Amino acid sequence: MKVLVLNGSPRPDGDTAYILQLLKEKLPCDTVFEYLNAFEAGIRPCDDCRYCWENEGCRIHDRMDMIWKDDYDVLVLASPLYMSFVTPPLFSIISRLNVIWSNRYFLKTPGRLKPKKGILILTGGGDGSPDPAIRIAQTAFRFLNVQFDPALDYIRSLNTNCVPVREDPEPAGQADAAVRHLFGEVHES
Ligand SMILES: Cc1cc2nc3c(=O)[nH]c(=O)nc-3n(C[C@H](O)[C@H](O)[C@H](O)COP(=O)(O)O)c2cc1C
Repeated sequence: MKVLVLNGSPRPDGDTAYILQLLKEKLPCDTVFEYLNAFEAGIRPCDDCRYCWENEGCRIHDRMDMIWKDDYDVLVLASPLYMSFVTPPLFSIISRLNVIWSNRYFLKTPGRLKPKKGILILTGGGDGSPDPAIRIAQTAFRFLNVQFDPALDYIRSLNTNCVPVREDPEPAGQADAAVRHLFGEVHES
């Protein structure tokens, strides 16, 4: 099983990274992980050049190719909340998914992405509602043909200013629930 992780946090040992590690430990040890850190990847946002109105795929070639390979079974979207949203570099990546919509709408290209499963991880200091971030994550999952249930596949720690993520008991239980929902059992390493 291959898991693609799109991480929107700039902090290598931060709150989001901690939950990612926690989730990793609950997945089978032969799971292959591929990571794309949005802050490091330098992926430019969609600039509405409209290439995809007339051509299949995107004009820009960069590390989005990790997503277009479509060779993963599980997509993990992980981000700290910034103004109740995912971080700007992660949104740049999500904006580039619009090529899927444009190719379908203008070129009538059938969607060829294979069905996958999804997990959303959000962290927040505690000031804002996560709803806008959840909504954009749902859009990304839908575009990529990823099955995601916000009631079961959503792991979060939303009060990190007061309760450090390492002391928050919620994410571990939510990670168990997500893994059980998606794979039937939880691996404990
Ligand atoms: C620019 C900026 C905007 C933020 N906006 C929010 C917000 O809207 N809601 C919230 O709960 N926390 C907000 N935070 C706090 C972070 O989401 C929080 O510290 C998070 O736990 C950091 O995760 P990380 O260590 O993985 O980067 C913001 C932080 C920054 C730097």
